[in-house]
This record gives sequence, C-alpha cells and structure tokens, in this order.
Amino acid sequence: MRIAIVGNGKMGQAIARLAEQRGHTIHARISGQDNAGGRALTPDRLSGADVAVEFTRPDAAPVNLERLIRAGIPTVTGTTGWRDELPRITALVAERNGALLHAANFSLGVHLFLRAARELARGFAGRPEFEAFILEEHHAAKVDAPSGTARELQARARQGDPDRPYPITSLRAGATPGTHVVGYDGPYERVTLSHEARSREGFAAGALAAAEWLPGHPGVHTVEDMLFGAGG
Ligand SMILES: NC(=O)c1ccc[n+]([C@@H]2O[C@H](COP(=O)([O-])OP(=O)(O)OC[C@H]3O[C@@H](n4cnc5c(N)ncnc54)[C@H](OP(=O)(O)O)[C@@H]3O)[C@@H](O)[C@H]2O)c1
Repeated sequence: MRIAIVGNGKMGQAIARLAEQRGHTIHARISGQDNAGGRALTPDRLSGADVAVEFTRPDAAPVNLERLIRAGIPTVTGTTGWRDELPRITALVAERNGALLHAANFSLGVHLFLRAARELARGFAGRPEFEAFILEEHHAAKVDAPSGTARELQARARQGDPDRPYPITSLRAGATPGTHVVGYDGPYERVTLSHEARSREGFAAGALAAAEWLPGHPGVHTVEDMLFGAGG
C-alpha cells in the first residue's frame, strides 16, 4: 500500500518504520512545518496514496482530517483531544462517502481492557459502599489531560453503571509509560483493573493494521469495529 504519513513526530516515525518493514511504501511524509492550516494536504500531493495516517496535535487534527476527506483519502487518525469536532467530521465523511477510523488508543490490549471495565462496572452497579475512580499517568510532554483513553474508559464504565460519575485523576511526569486504572474502593477491599503501555510500537502496529483494513470500508469507524465487527 502507499501510505501518506501526516505528522512526523514520535508516532508518525514509528508507523513509517513499521510500514516499511511490512513492505508498504511511504507516499508522503507531511510535517508540521510544511502544513500550517493543512495547506500541504492538496489533492495533487496526496494523489496516488491509498490511505493516510494522521498523528499530529489536537489543534491541527480537525483541519487535517477535513482536507484528507475532501481529497478522497481513507484516513486513520490517532490524534487525541479533538473529539468535540467529531460530529462535524462525521457529517463530512458521510457527505463525501469517505472513510475514517479514529482511536484515542490503538493498542489491542486496551480494547480488551475497556470491555472488561464495562463488565466490572456492571458487577459493581448498585453497591454504593464502593467508590469508583479512574487514574491515568503519562509522560510529561503529553499535551492533553485527561487522556482520550481515560475519557473512553469513563464512557465505557458508565455504560456498565450509569449512576456512577467515575472521576478521572491525571498525572504527567517524566517518561512515565501510559497507564490507565479503574478502581473500586470499599470499606474492606479494593479492586483495580489496569492497562500499561510499555512502548509506542504497540500503538504503531494497531494504527498500521487499521490503515491496512480501512480502504474499502466507507464510513466512520473505531478500532472496535475493526477488531470485533460493528456492534460487536
Ligand atoms: N491513538 C493512539 O494509540 C496514540 C498513541 C500515542 C499518541 N497518540 C496521540 O497522537 C498524537 C501525536 O503523538 P506523538 O507522540 O507522535 O506526538 P509528537 O511526537 O509531539 O508529534 C506530533 C507531531 O505532529 C506534528 N504536527 C503538528 N501540527 C501538524 C500539522 N498541521 N501537520 C502535520 N504535522 C503536524 C508536529 O510537528 P511540529 O513539531 O513541526 O509542529 C510533531 O512532529 C498526540 O495527540 C498523542 O496524544 C495517540
């Protein structure tokens, strides 16, 4: 496949490395410097790309996605912190019959973790003696807080038990690996479920799997649609 990489930061570079190892071609690498306001994402520059993978910054992602979709390129994005714009981008994908897959976290383990968190929440529903909490930790350079995955974890837990608030506490320090915990603290015991990402290669592998899957799947998708099928 010919892949356009939008965002040449830590994730963009990890994905490009892995893509080349798997025999894909990097059609274009679009960095922040080239692309103020999405200006590098022209149909000419993108022509011949089968798919784009976008990992940039919360303030840059919506414009990038808009331009990629208008150019007719199936797009995978892992940028976090732009979710308020999702309804507008979803409408554009529908209007253009485009394809978008977005995920705040591309690791396989986290999606199984989110499912388990929903089940655990169901189990604790109606037990007010337990207080529920979410903790998330990341490296100091992460721009958004709480993390997109923590917000997703909160949404999943609320699916299991809509009556709990699940407050999120965030820590940003040093090179801390991305960690998410949902816990229930009761008078005599504590239950926690946690996920820890050890390297960004796991996210890169998931994003690349999404890029391989997305062409031919119009609409707006999540990793769960890819892994478990729509509604799965
Ligand atoms: N979904 C997941 O699994 C997952 C995993 C890890 C990270 N993330 C998220 O992915 C995003 C990127 O993470 P990262 O670790 O790669 O960050 P990073 O190392 O800071 O890289 C971000 C890159 O985006 C570039 N950029 C900014 N504006 C741009 C634009 N308009 N067009 C093209 N490139 C632009 C920056 O370039 P300049 O420095 O030149 O501005 C920088 O190289 C963040 O939102 C992060 O939270 C998601």
